[in-house]
Amino acid sequence: MSAARPFYVTTPIYYVNDEPHVGHAYTTILADVFARHHRIHGGAAHFLTGTDEHGQKVQEAAQKRGLTPLEHCDELVERFRALWVRLQISNDDFIRTTESRHETVVAEFLIELQTRGEIYRERYEGLYCIPDERFWTAKDVVDGNCPLCGRPVVTLTEENYFFRMSRHQEWLVDYIKTHPEFIQPKTRRNEVLGFLEKPLGDLCISRPAARLHWGIPIPFDPEYVTYVWVDALVNYVSAVRGTDLWPASMHLIGKDILTTHCVYWPTLLHALGLPMPETILAHGWWLQGESKMSKSVGNVVKPLGLVDLYGVDAFRYYLLRDMVVGQDAEFSEKNLVQRLNSDLANDLGNCLNRVERMIGTYAEGRAPEVRGEDDADRDLAETGRRTVIASQEAMLARRPHEAIEATLQLVRATNRYLELKAPWKAFKTDGAAGVATTLWTSAEALRLAAVLLAPVIPAKSGEMLYRLGVAESPDVWFPQPIVDDEGGAKPPANETAEGALAATWGALPTGTEIRPGTALFPRVETEATEATE
Ligand code: MSP
Repeated sequence: MSAARPFYVTTPIYYVNDEPHVGHAYTTILADVFARHHRIHGGAAHFLTGTDEHGQKVQEAAQKRGLTPLEHCDELVERFRALWVRLQISNDDFIRTTESRHETVVAEFLIELQTRGEIYRERYEGLYCIPDERFWTAKDVVDGNCPLCGRPVVTLTEENYFFRMSRHQEWLVDYIKTHPEFIQPKTRRNEVLGFLEKPLGDLCISRPAARLHWGIPIPFDPEYVTYVWVDALVNYVSAVRGTDLWPASMHLIGKDILTTHCVYWPTLLHALGLPMPETILAHGWWLQGESKMSKSVGNVVKPLGLVDLYGVDAFRYYLLRDMVVGQDAEFSEKNLVQRLNSDLANDLGNCLNRVERMIGTYAEGRAPEVRGEDDADRDLAETGRRTVIASQEAMLARRPHEAIEATLQLVRATNRYLELKAPWKAFKTDGAAGVATTLWTSAEALRLAAVLLAPVIPAKSGEMLYRLGVAESPDVWFPQPIVDDEGGAKPPANETAEGALAATWGALPTGTEIRPGTALFPRVETEATEATE
Protein backbone atom coordinates (compact mmCIF):
# COMPACT_ATOMS: atom_id res chain seq x y z
CA MET A 1 0.00 0.00 0.00
CA SER A 2 1.61 3.28 -1.01
CA ALA A 3 1.25 6.05 1.54
CA ALA A 4 0.45 8.81 -0.94
CA ARG A 5 -2.56 7.17 -2.51
CA PRO A 6 -5.93 8.40 -1.27
CA PHE A 7 -8.05 5.94 0.64
CA TYR A 8 -10.64 5.01 -1.99
CA VAL A 9 -13.74 3.51 -0.35
CA THR A 10 -16.95 2.35 -2.03
CA THR A 11 -20.42 1.19 -1.01
CA PRO A 12 -22.52 -1.17 -3.11
CA ILE A 13 -24.56 0.80 -5.59
CA TYR A 14 -28.12 0.44 -4.40
CA TYR A 15 -31.05 -0.75 -6.49
CA VAL A 16 -32.71 2.49 -7.42
CA ASN A 17 -36.15 0.89 -7.23
CA ASP A 18 -35.86 0.04 -3.56
CA GLU A 19 -36.85 2.45 -0.88
CA PRO A 20 -33.75 3.12 1.22
CA HIS A 21 -33.88 1.45 4.64
CA VAL A 22 -31.68 1.09 7.70
CA GLY A 23 -29.57 -1.62 6.01
CA HIS A 24 -28.60 0.69 3.14
CA ALA A 25 -28.09 3.56 5.56
CA TYR A 26 -25.72 1.46 7.66
CA THR A 27 -23.36 0.54 4.80
CA THR A 28 -23.21 4.13 3.66
CA ILE A 29 -22.65 5.54 7.16
CA LEU A 30 -19.93 2.95 7.78
CA ALA A 31 -18.15 4.00 4.58
CA ASP A 32 -18.59 7.63 5.59
CA VAL A 33 -17.03 6.95 8.99
CA PHE A 34 -13.98 5.31 7.39
CA ALA A 35 -13.62 8.14 4.86
CA ARG A 36 -13.96 10.86 7.50
CA HIS A 37 -11.54 9.02 9.76
CA HIS A 38 -8.90 9.02 7.03
CA ARG A 39 -9.42 12.69 6.23
CA ILE A 40 -9.31 13.78 9.87
CA HIS A 41 -6.15 11.82 10.52
CA GLY A 42 -4.22 13.41 7.73
CA GLY A 43 -4.88 11.25 4.69
CA ALA A 44 -6.87 11.99 1.58
CA ALA A 45 -9.97 9.93 0.92
CA HIS A 46 -12.22 9.36 -2.04
CA PHE A 47 -15.66 8.06 -1.21
CA LEU A 48 -17.97 6.67 -3.88
CA THR A 49 -21.58 5.58 -3.67
CA GLY A 50 -24.38 5.45 -6.23
CA THR A 51 -27.28 3.57 -7.73
CA ASP A 52 -27.77 0.42 -9.79
CA GLU A 53 -30.40 1.34 -12.37
CA HIS A 54 -30.67 -1.34 -15.06
CA GLY A 55 -32.60 -4.59 -15.14
CA GLN A 56 -35.96 -6.21 -15.38
CA LYS A 57 -37.44 -4.86 -12.16
CA VAL A 58 -36.76 -1.27 -13.12
CA GLN A 59 -38.08 -1.86 -16.64
CA GLU A 60 -41.31 -3.33 -15.26
CA ALA A 61 -41.80 -0.73 -12.54
CA ALA A 62 -41.38 2.09 -15.06
CA GLN A 63 -43.79 0.43 -17.47
CA LYS A 64 -46.43 0.17 -14.74
CA ARG A 65 -46.10 3.86 -14.06
CA GLY A 66 -46.24 4.76 -17.75
CA LEU A 67 -42.77 6.28 -17.61
CA THR A 68 -39.61 5.55 -19.52
CA PRO A 69 -37.13 3.63 -17.37
CA LEU A 70 -34.84 6.65 -17.24
CA GLU A 71 -37.65 8.99 -16.15
CA HIS A 72 -38.49 6.49 -13.45
CA CYS A 73 -34.84 6.29 -12.30
CA ASP A 74 -34.37 10.07 -12.42
CA GLU A 75 -37.21 10.39 -9.99
CA LEU A 76 -36.25 7.55 -7.65
CA VAL A 77 -32.55 8.33 -7.41
CA GLU A 78 -33.46 11.46 -5.50
CA ARG A 79 -34.55 9.41 -2.50
CA PHE A 80 -31.02 8.11 -2.12
CA ARG A 81 -29.37 11.45 -2.77
CA ALA A 82 -31.64 13.19 -0.26
CA LEU A 83 -31.10 10.53 2.38
CA TRP A 84 -27.32 10.77 2.07
CA VAL A 85 -27.46 14.52 2.50
CA ARG A 86 -29.72 14.12 5.53
CA LEU A 87 -27.39 11.50 7.03
CA GLN A 88 -24.43 13.84 6.45
CA ILE A 89 -22.67 11.47 4.13
CA SER A 90 -19.48 13.03 2.77
CA ASN A 91 -19.32 11.15 -0.53
CA ASP A 92 -17.07 12.70 -3.16
CA ASP A 93 -18.95 11.16 -6.05
CA PHE A 94 -22.28 9.55 -6.81
CA ILE A 95 -22.44 7.23 -9.79
CA ARG A 96 -25.53 6.07 -11.65
CA THR A 97 -25.17 3.11 -14.00
CA THR A 98 -27.23 5.01 -16.57
CA GLU A 99 -24.58 7.70 -16.92
CA SER A 100 -22.56 7.68 -20.12
CA ARG A 101 -19.24 7.76 -18.22
CA HIS A 102 -20.25 4.34 -16.87
CA GLU A 103 -21.81 2.85 -20.00
CA THR A 104 -18.70 3.61 -22.05
CA VAL A 105 -16.43 1.77 -19.64
CA VAL A 106 -18.73 -1.27 -19.51
CA ALA A 107 -18.67 -1.42 -23.32
CA GLU A 108 -14.89 -0.99 -23.34
CA PHE A 109 -14.45 -3.82 -20.83
CA LEU A 110 -16.64 -6.18 -22.83
CA ILE A 111 -14.67 -5.50 -26.01
CA GLU A 112 -11.44 -6.04 -24.12
CA LEU A 113 -12.70 -9.35 -22.71
CA GLN A 114 -13.78 -10.39 -26.18
CA THR A 115 -10.37 -9.46 -27.62
CA ARG A 116 -8.63 -11.44 -24.90
CA GLY A 117 -10.67 -14.53 -25.76
CA GLU A 118 -12.52 -14.44 -22.45
CA ILE A 119 -16.02 -14.47 -23.97
CA TYR A 120 -17.87 -17.12 -25.99
CA ARG A 121 -21.42 -17.53 -27.21
CA GLU A 122 -23.44 -20.66 -26.48
CA ARG A 123 -26.91 -22.11 -26.53
CA TYR A 124 -28.01 -22.61 -22.99
CA GLU A 125 -30.96 -24.19 -21.28
CA GLY A 126 -31.41 -23.36 -17.68
CA LEU A 127 -33.75 -22.72 -14.81
CA TYR A 128 -34.28 -19.02 -14.57
CA CYS A 129 -35.68 -16.80 -11.84
CA ILE A 130 -37.29 -13.81 -13.54
CA PRO A 131 -37.46 -11.48 -10.52
CA ASP A 132 -33.79 -12.10 -9.63
CA GLU A 133 -32.67 -12.22 -13.26
CA ARG A 134 -30.55 -15.30 -12.59
CA PHE A 135 -30.03 -18.76 -13.95
CA TRP A 136 -29.84 -21.61 -11.46
CA THR A 137 -28.71 -25.21 -11.76
CA ALA A 138 -31.14 -28.02 -10.90
CA LYS A 139 -29.11 -28.60 -7.72
CA ASP A 140 -29.67 -25.01 -6.53
CA VAL A 141 -33.41 -24.97 -7.03
CA VAL A 142 -35.55 -25.82 -3.99
CA ASP A 143 -38.83 -27.61 -4.94
CA GLY A 144 -38.99 -25.74 -8.21
CA ASN A 145 -38.35 -22.40 -6.49
CA CYS A 146 -35.51 -19.91 -6.58
CA PRO A 147 -33.12 -20.48 -3.65
CA LEU A 148 -32.79 -16.72 -3.20
CA CYS A 149 -36.34 -15.38 -3.28
CA GLY A 150 -38.43 -18.56 -3.08
CA ARG A 151 -40.44 -17.75 -6.21
CA PRO A 152 -40.93 -20.35 -8.98
CA VAL A 153 -38.23 -20.68 -11.62
CA VAL A 154 -38.96 -21.22 -15.33
CA THR A 155 -37.05 -23.22 -17.95
CA LEU A 156 -35.44 -20.96 -20.51
CA THR A 157 -33.50 -21.85 -23.63
CA GLU A 158 -31.39 -19.05 -24.98
CA GLU A 159 -28.20 -18.26 -26.73
CA ASN A 160 -26.05 -16.06 -24.60
CA TYR A 161 -22.55 -14.76 -24.07
CA PHE A 162 -20.43 -16.30 -21.37
CA PHE A 163 -17.36 -15.13 -19.53
CA ARG A 164 -14.74 -17.87 -19.04
CA MET A 165 -14.80 -17.46 -15.28
CA SER A 166 -13.80 -21.08 -14.66
CA ARG A 167 -10.38 -20.36 -16.17
CA HIS A 168 -9.54 -18.09 -13.28
CA GLN A 169 -10.59 -20.33 -10.43
CA GLU A 170 -7.14 -21.61 -9.55
CA TRP A 171 -5.65 -18.17 -9.72
CA LEU A 172 -8.41 -16.78 -7.46
CA VAL A 173 -8.01 -19.46 -4.79
CA ASP A 174 -4.29 -18.82 -4.74
CA TYR A 175 -4.79 -15.04 -4.62
CA ILE A 176 -7.18 -15.26 -1.67
CA LYS A 177 -4.85 -17.61 0.18
CA THR A 178 -1.81 -15.41 -0.32
CA HIS A 179 -3.62 -12.11 0.45
CA PRO A 180 -5.18 -12.43 3.90
CA GLU A 181 -6.37 -8.80 3.82
CA PHE A 182 -8.29 -9.30 0.56
CA ILE A 183 -11.55 -10.65 1.97
CA GLN A 184 -12.51 -9.65 5.48
CA PRO A 185 -13.53 -10.76 8.02
CA LYS A 186 -11.96 -14.22 8.12
CA THR A 187 -15.32 -16.01 8.30
CA ARG A 188 -16.28 -14.55 4.92
CA ARG A 189 -12.89 -15.38 3.44
CA ASN A 190 -13.40 -19.00 4.50
CA GLU A 191 -16.89 -18.95 3.09
CA VAL A 192 -15.57 -17.87 -0.31
CA LEU A 193 -12.78 -20.45 -0.20
CA GLY A 194 -15.40 -23.09 0.68
CA PHE A 195 -17.49 -22.01 -2.29
CA LEU A 196 -14.42 -22.29 -4.51
CA GLU A 197 -13.83 -25.90 -3.52
CA LYS A 198 -16.48 -26.88 -6.08
CA PRO A 199 -15.70 -26.35 -9.75
CA LEU A 200 -16.57 -22.85 -10.84
CA GLY A 201 -18.79 -22.53 -13.91
CA ASP A 202 -18.60 -19.82 -16.54
CA LEU A 203 -20.71 -16.71 -16.08
CA CYS A 204 -23.59 -15.80 -18.35
CA ILE A 205 -23.02 -12.10 -18.98
CA SER A 206 -25.79 -11.23 -21.43
CA ARG A 207 -29.57 -11.13 -21.66
CA PRO A 208 -31.47 -11.07 -24.96
CA ALA A 209 -32.66 -7.51 -25.61
CA ALA A 210 -35.96 -8.93 -26.84
CA ARG A 211 -36.75 -9.93 -23.27
CA LEU A 212 -34.90 -7.20 -21.43
CA HIS A 213 -34.12 -3.97 -23.19
CA TRP A 214 -33.25 -1.88 -20.13
CA GLY A 215 -29.54 -2.56 -19.98
CA ILE A 216 -26.21 -1.65 -21.52
CA PRO A 217 -26.02 -3.10 -25.04
CA ILE A 218 -23.35 -5.72 -25.65
CA PRO A 219 -21.09 -3.64 -27.92
CA PHE A 220 -20.47 -6.43 -30.43
CA ASP A 221 -24.07 -7.68 -30.55
CA PRO A 222 -26.98 -5.23 -30.27
CA GLU A 223 -29.42 -8.13 -29.80
CA TYR A 224 -28.15 -8.44 -26.25
CA VAL A 225 -27.76 -6.33 -23.15
CA THR A 226 -25.25 -6.79 -20.33
CA TYR A 227 -26.15 -8.86 -17.27
CA VAL A 228 -26.88 -6.34 -14.48
CA TRP A 229 -24.23 -7.62 -12.08
CA VAL A 230 -21.44 -7.28 -14.64
CA ASP A 231 -22.76 -3.80 -15.44
CA ALA A 232 -23.01 -2.84 -11.76
CA LEU A 233 -19.61 -4.10 -10.57
CA VAL A 234 -17.82 -2.03 -13.18
CA ASN A 235 -19.01 1.17 -11.44
CA TYR A 236 -16.08 0.98 -9.04
CA VAL A 237 -13.70 1.49 -11.97
CA SER A 238 -15.83 3.60 -14.31
CA ALA A 239 -16.36 6.30 -11.66
CA VAL A 240 -12.62 6.86 -11.28
CA ARG A 241 -11.61 6.43 -14.92
CA GLY A 242 -8.93 8.90 -15.88
CA THR A 243 -7.63 9.16 -12.30
CA ASP A 244 -5.08 7.07 -10.44
CA LEU A 245 -7.60 6.00 -7.82
CA TRP A 246 -8.00 2.42 -8.98
CA PRO A 247 -7.47 -0.02 -7.30
CA ALA A 248 -9.91 0.75 -4.51
CA SER A 249 -8.68 0.54 -0.94
CA MET A 250 -11.93 -0.93 0.28
CA HIS A 251 -15.18 -2.24 -1.12
CA LEU A 252 -17.69 -2.23 1.69
CA ILE A 253 -20.52 -4.71 1.14
CA GLY A 254 -23.16 -6.63 3.03
CA LYS A 255 -22.63 -10.38 3.30
CA ASP A 256 -25.54 -10.92 0.88
CA ILE A 257 -23.37 -9.93 -2.07
CA LEU A 258 -20.23 -11.83 -1.23
CA THR A 259 -20.03 -14.11 -4.29
CA THR A 260 -20.52 -11.35 -6.82
CA HIS A 261 -17.80 -9.22 -5.19
CA CYS A 262 -15.36 -11.93 -4.19
CA VAL A 263 -15.69 -14.28 -7.19
CA TYR A 264 -17.22 -12.53 -10.23
CA TRP A 265 -15.47 -9.20 -9.73
CA PRO A 266 -11.91 -10.43 -9.07
CA THR A 267 -12.05 -12.91 -11.96
CA LEU A 268 -13.33 -10.20 -14.30
CA LEU A 269 -10.57 -7.82 -13.20
CA HIS A 270 -7.97 -10.54 -13.57
CA ALA A 271 -9.20 -11.37 -17.06
CA LEU A 272 -8.89 -7.68 -17.91
CA GLY A 273 -5.39 -7.46 -16.48
CA LEU A 274 -6.46 -4.93 -13.83
CA PRO A 275 -5.25 -4.83 -10.22
CA MET A 276 -7.41 -6.13 -7.37
CA PRO A 277 -9.07 -3.94 -4.75
CA GLU A 278 -7.06 -4.11 -1.53
CA THR A 279 -9.90 -5.23 0.73
CA ILE A 280 -13.47 -6.37 0.39
CA LEU A 281 -15.05 -5.97 3.79
CA ALA A 282 -18.40 -7.68 4.30
CA HIS A 283 -20.59 -6.63 7.19
CA GLY A 284 -23.55 -8.52 8.64
CA TRP A 285 -27.23 -7.83 8.53
CA TRP A 286 -29.49 -5.69 10.58
CA LEU A 287 -32.21 -8.08 11.63
CA GLN A 288 -35.79 -7.51 12.64
CA GLY A 289 -36.58 -10.42 14.90
CA GLU A 290 -35.00 -13.44 13.21
CA SER A 291 -34.96 -12.20 9.65
CA LYS A 292 -32.88 -9.85 7.54
CA MET A 293 -34.41 -6.46 7.14
CA SER A 294 -35.43 -6.32 3.50
CA LYS A 295 -38.06 -4.96 1.19
CA SER A 296 -39.21 -8.41 0.09
CA VAL A 297 -39.78 -9.52 3.70
CA GLY A 298 -41.58 -6.24 4.31
CA ASN A 299 -39.95 -5.54 7.67
CA VAL A 300 -37.82 -2.53 6.87
CA VAL A 301 -37.18 0.36 9.22
CA LYS A 302 -37.11 3.68 7.43
CA PRO A 303 -34.22 5.82 8.53
CA LEU A 304 -35.79 9.23 8.06
CA GLY A 305 -38.42 8.81 10.75
CA LEU A 306 -35.76 7.86 13.28
CA VAL A 307 -33.52 10.73 12.28
CA ASP A 308 -36.41 13.17 12.71
CA LEU A 309 -37.13 11.76 16.15
CA TYR A 310 -33.65 11.33 17.57
CA GLY A 311 -31.32 13.36 15.38
CA VAL A 312 -28.80 12.26 12.80
CA ASP A 313 -25.87 11.93 15.18
CA ALA A 314 -27.67 9.67 17.63
CA PHE A 315 -28.83 7.51 14.72
CA ARG A 316 -25.31 7.20 13.28
CA TYR A 317 -23.90 6.59 16.75
CA TYR A 318 -26.30 3.77 17.47
CA LEU A 319 -25.67 1.98 14.16
CA LEU A 320 -21.91 2.15 14.59
CA ARG A 321 -21.83 1.38 18.30
CA ASP A 322 -24.22 -1.56 18.31
CA MET A 323 -22.98 -3.56 15.33
CA VAL A 324 -19.68 -5.40 15.35
CA VAL A 325 -18.56 -5.13 11.72
CA GLY A 326 -18.98 -8.58 10.23
CA GLN A 327 -21.65 -9.82 12.63
CA ASP A 328 -25.42 -9.52 12.53
CA ALA A 329 -27.24 -7.27 14.98
CA GLU A 330 -30.85 -6.83 15.90
CA PHE A 331 -32.24 -3.40 15.20
CA SER A 332 -34.10 -1.98 18.17
CA GLU A 333 -35.40 1.51 18.63
CA LYS A 334 -35.38 0.93 22.36
CA ASN A 335 -31.62 0.24 22.27
CA LEU A 336 -31.12 3.34 20.16
CA VAL A 337 -32.86 5.44 22.81
CA GLN A 338 -30.84 3.79 25.55
CA ARG A 339 -27.55 4.56 23.81
CA LEU A 340 -28.69 8.11 23.26
CA ASN A 341 -29.68 8.61 26.88
CA SER A 342 -26.77 6.86 28.53
CA ASP A 343 -23.72 7.42 26.32
CA LEU A 344 -24.61 10.65 24.57
CA ALA A 345 -26.85 12.57 26.99
CA ASN A 346 -25.63 11.37 30.41
CA ASP A 347 -21.95 10.74 29.77
CA LEU A 348 -20.91 13.04 26.93
CA GLY A 349 -23.46 15.86 27.01
CA ASN A 350 -23.46 16.22 30.79
CA CYS A 351 -19.69 16.29 30.94
CA LEU A 352 -19.56 19.10 28.39
CA ASN A 353 -22.20 21.03 30.28
CA ARG A 354 -20.44 20.70 33.62
CA VAL A 355 -17.08 21.77 32.19
CA GLU A 356 -18.56 24.76 30.36
CA ARG A 357 -20.42 25.89 33.45
CA MET A 358 -17.42 25.60 35.70
CA ILE A 359 -15.10 27.38 33.29
CA GLY A 360 -17.72 30.13 33.16
CA THR A 361 -17.95 30.38 36.95
CA TYR A 362 -14.36 29.75 38.02
CA ALA A 363 -12.23 30.85 35.06
CA GLU A 364 -14.05 33.79 33.47
CA GLY A 365 -15.12 31.67 30.53
CA ARG A 366 -11.66 30.89 29.20
CA ALA A 367 -9.59 27.69 29.18
CA PRO A 368 -7.16 28.37 32.03
CA GLU A 369 -3.43 27.84 32.08
CA VAL A 370 -2.24 24.65 33.76
CA ARG A 371 -0.77 25.27 37.20
CA GLY A 372 0.98 22.18 38.51
CA GLU A 373 -0.19 18.58 38.13
CA ASP A 374 -1.09 15.89 40.60
CA ASP A 375 -1.55 12.15 40.04
CA ALA A 376 -5.18 12.49 39.02
CA ASP A 377 -4.30 15.10 36.38
CA ARG A 378 -1.49 12.93 35.06
CA ASP A 379 -3.75 9.87 35.04
CA LEU A 380 -6.39 11.55 32.93
CA ALA A 381 -3.74 12.83 30.51
CA GLU A 382 -2.38 9.29 30.26
CA THR A 383 -5.90 7.93 29.66
CA GLY A 384 -6.27 10.55 26.91
CA ARG A 385 -3.05 9.47 25.20
CA ARG A 386 -3.94 5.79 25.48
CA THR A 387 -7.41 6.47 24.10
CA VAL A 388 -5.95 8.02 20.95
CA ILE A 389 -3.90 4.88 20.33
CA ALA A 390 -6.74 2.50 21.17
CA SER A 391 -9.20 4.38 19.02
CA GLN A 392 -6.80 4.58 16.05
CA GLU A 393 -5.96 0.90 16.28
CA ALA A 394 -9.61 -0.07 16.45
CA MET A 395 -10.50 2.07 13.44
CA LEU A 396 -7.67 0.64 11.37
CA ALA A 397 -8.75 -2.86 12.40
CA ARG A 398 -12.22 -1.87 11.16
CA ARG A 399 -13.75 -2.18 14.60
CA PRO A 400 -15.44 1.22 14.98
CA HIS A 401 -17.58 0.03 17.90
CA GLU A 402 -14.34 -0.46 19.89
CA ALA A 403 -13.02 2.95 18.90
CA ILE A 404 -16.27 4.50 20.14
CA GLU A 405 -16.23 2.56 23.37
CA ALA A 406 -12.60 3.54 24.07
CA THR A 407 -13.54 7.20 23.62
CA LEU A 408 -16.61 6.91 25.84
CA GLN A 409 -14.34 5.39 28.50
CA LEU A 410 -12.30 8.60 28.34
CA VAL A 411 -15.48 10.65 28.80
CA ARG A 412 -16.54 8.53 31.79
CA ALA A 413 -13.04 8.85 33.27
CA THR A 414 -13.39 12.62 32.91
CA ASN A 415 -16.67 12.61 34.82
CA ARG A 416 -15.05 10.54 37.60
CA TYR A 417 -12.05 12.87 37.58
CA LEU A 418 -14.34 15.86 38.15
CA GLU A 419 -15.99 14.09 41.09
CA LEU A 420 -12.58 13.35 42.56
CA LYS A 421 -11.15 16.82 42.08
CA ALA A 422 -14.40 18.55 43.06
CA PRO A 423 -13.44 21.98 41.71
CA TRP A 424 -16.55 23.47 43.33
CA LYS A 425 -14.88 22.78 46.70
CA ALA A 426 -11.32 23.57 45.63
CA PHE A 427 -12.38 26.97 44.35
CA LYS A 428 -13.70 27.91 47.78
CA THR A 429 -10.40 27.17 49.45
CA ASP A 430 -7.80 27.87 46.75
CA GLY A 431 -9.54 30.22 44.32
CA ALA A 432 -9.03 30.22 40.53
CA ALA A 433 -5.43 28.99 40.75
CA GLY A 434 -6.62 25.89 42.63
CA VAL A 435 -8.96 24.75 39.85
CA ALA A 436 -7.07 25.84 36.74
CA THR A 437 -5.42 22.50 35.99
CA THR A 438 -8.63 20.57 36.60
CA LEU A 439 -10.62 22.77 34.25
CA TRP A 440 -8.06 22.75 31.47
CA THR A 441 -7.54 18.98 31.77
CA SER A 442 -11.23 18.15 31.63
CA ALA A 443 -11.82 20.55 28.71
CA GLU A 444 -8.89 18.97 26.88
CA ALA A 445 -10.30 15.48 27.45
CA LEU A 446 -13.58 16.62 25.89
CA ARG A 447 -11.82 18.26 22.96
CA LEU A 448 -9.98 15.03 22.29
CA ALA A 449 -13.18 12.98 22.61
CA ALA A 450 -14.87 15.30 20.10
CA VAL A 451 -12.04 14.80 17.58
CA LEU A 452 -12.06 11.03 18.02
CA LEU A 453 -15.84 10.84 17.69
CA ALA A 454 -15.97 13.22 14.72
CA PRO A 455 -16.22 10.51 12.04
CA VAL A 456 -19.29 9.06 13.79
CA ILE A 457 -21.06 12.19 15.06
CA PRO A 458 -19.66 14.94 12.82
CA ALA A 459 -22.27 17.59 13.59
CA LYS A 460 -22.23 17.22 17.37
CA SER A 461 -18.46 16.91 17.37
CA GLY A 462 -18.29 20.19 15.46
CA GLU A 463 -20.64 21.76 17.99
CA MET A 464 -18.46 20.56 20.86
CA LEU A 465 -15.30 21.95 19.27
CA TYR A 466 -17.04 25.26 18.66
CA ARG A 467 -18.31 25.42 22.24
CA LEU A 468 -14.85 24.56 23.54
CA GLY A 469 -13.56 27.51 21.56
CA VAL A 470 -11.21 25.65 19.22
CA ALA A 471 -13.29 25.69 16.03
CA GLU A 472 -14.34 28.83 14.22
CA SER A 473 -17.75 27.40 13.49
CA PRO A 474 -19.84 24.37 14.53
CA ASP A 475 -19.69 23.28 10.88
CA VAL A 476 -16.00 22.63 11.11
CA TRP A 477 -16.38 19.21 9.47
CA PHE A 478 -18.83 20.64 6.90
CA PRO A 479 -17.51 23.54 4.88
CA GLN A 480 -20.39 25.27 3.11
CA PRO A 481 -21.99 24.44 0.80
CA ILE A 482 -21.96 20.77 1.72
CA VAL A 483 -23.83 19.72 -1.39
CA ASP A 484 -22.34 20.28 -4.82
CA ASP A 485 -24.21 20.54 -8.12
CA GLU A 486 -24.12 16.79 -8.62
CA GLY A 487 -25.78 16.20 -5.26
CA GLY A 488 -22.62 14.87 -3.60
CA ALA A 489 -21.52 16.21 -0.24
CA LYS A 490 -18.21 18.02 -0.24
CA PRO A 491 -15.45 16.52 1.88
CA PRO A 492 -14.89 18.25 5.20
CA ALA A 493 -11.94 20.59 5.60
CA ASN A 494 -10.60 21.35 9.01
CA GLU A 495 -8.97 24.74 8.90
CA THR A 496 -9.31 26.38 12.25
CA ALA A 497 -6.98 27.31 15.16
CA GLU A 498 -3.68 25.67 14.25
CA GLY A 499 -3.44 22.14 15.69
CA ALA A 500 -6.51 22.58 17.89
CA LEU A 501 -8.32 19.74 16.12
CA ALA A 502 -5.36 17.38 16.47
CA ALA A 503 -5.90 13.88 17.79
CA THR A 504 -3.13 14.30 20.33
CA TRP A 505 -3.31 15.11 24.01
CA GLY A 506 -2.52 18.69 24.92
CA ALA A 507 -3.66 20.68 21.88
CA LEU A 508 -6.24 22.86 23.68
CA PRO A 509 -4.80 26.39 23.64
CA THR A 510 -4.86 28.30 26.90
CA GLY A 511 -7.20 31.27 26.86
CA THR A 512 -9.68 30.00 24.28
CA GLU A 513 -13.11 31.35 24.95
CA ILE A 514 -15.71 28.77 25.89
CA ARG A 515 -19.12 29.25 24.31
CA PRO A 516 -21.64 27.48 26.53
CA GLY A 517 -24.74 26.03 24.92
CA THR A 518 -27.81 23.99 25.72
CA ALA A 519 -27.91 20.21 26.23
CA LEU A 520 -25.77 18.62 23.50
CA PHE A 521 -28.03 15.57 23.37
CA PRO A 522 -31.33 16.15 25.16
CA ARG A 523 -32.53 13.00 26.92
CA VAL A 524 -35.44 11.25 25.26
CA GLU A 525 -38.21 10.07 27.51
CA THR A 526 -40.28 7.34 25.88
CA GLU A 527 -42.36 4.44 27.11
CA ALA A 528 -39.51 2.18 26.04
CA THR A 529 -37.04 3.86 28.41
CA GLU A 530 -39.50 4.33 31.23
CA ALA A 531 -40.30 0.63 31.17
CA THR A 532 -36.69 -0.32 31.76
CA GLU A 533 -35.46 2.39 34.09
N1 MSP B 1 -27.35 -3.39 -6.55
C1 MSP B 1 -26.75 -4.41 -5.77
C2 MSP B 1 -25.31 -4.08 -5.46
C3 MSP B 1 -24.42 -3.86 -6.64
S1 MSP B 1 -22.82 -3.38 -6.17
C4 MSP B 1 -21.92 -3.50 -7.55
C5 MSP B 1 -27.52 -4.57 -4.47
N2 MSP B 1 -28.22 -3.51 -4.07
S2 MSP B 1 -29.13 -3.43 -2.76
O1 MSP B 1 -29.88 -2.21 -2.88
O2 MSP B 1 -29.85 -4.62 -2.55
O3 MSP B 1 -28.16 -3.14 -1.59
C6 MSP B 1 -27.39 -4.12 -1.06
C7 MSP B 1 -26.60 -3.63 0.14
O4 MSP B 1 -27.41 -2.92 1.08
C8 MSP B 1 -26.09 -4.81 0.92
O5 MSP B 1 -24.94 -5.38 0.40
C9 MSP B 1 -25.84 -4.17 2.25
O6 MSP B 1 -24.64 -3.46 2.17
C10 MSP B 1 -27.03 -3.23 2.39
N3 MSP B 1 -28.14 -3.90 3.08
C11 MSP B 1 -29.37 -4.22 2.57
N4 MSP B 1 -30.11 -4.81 3.56
C12 MSP B 1 -29.38 -4.90 4.68
C13 MSP B 1 -29.64 -5.28 6.02
N5 MSP B 1 -30.78 -5.76 6.44
N6 MSP B 1 -28.64 -5.10 6.93
C14 MSP B 1 -27.44 -4.53 6.59
N7 MSP B 1 -27.19 -4.16 5.36
C15 MSP B 1 -28.06 -4.46 4.35
O7 MSP B 1 -27.41 -5.62 -3.86
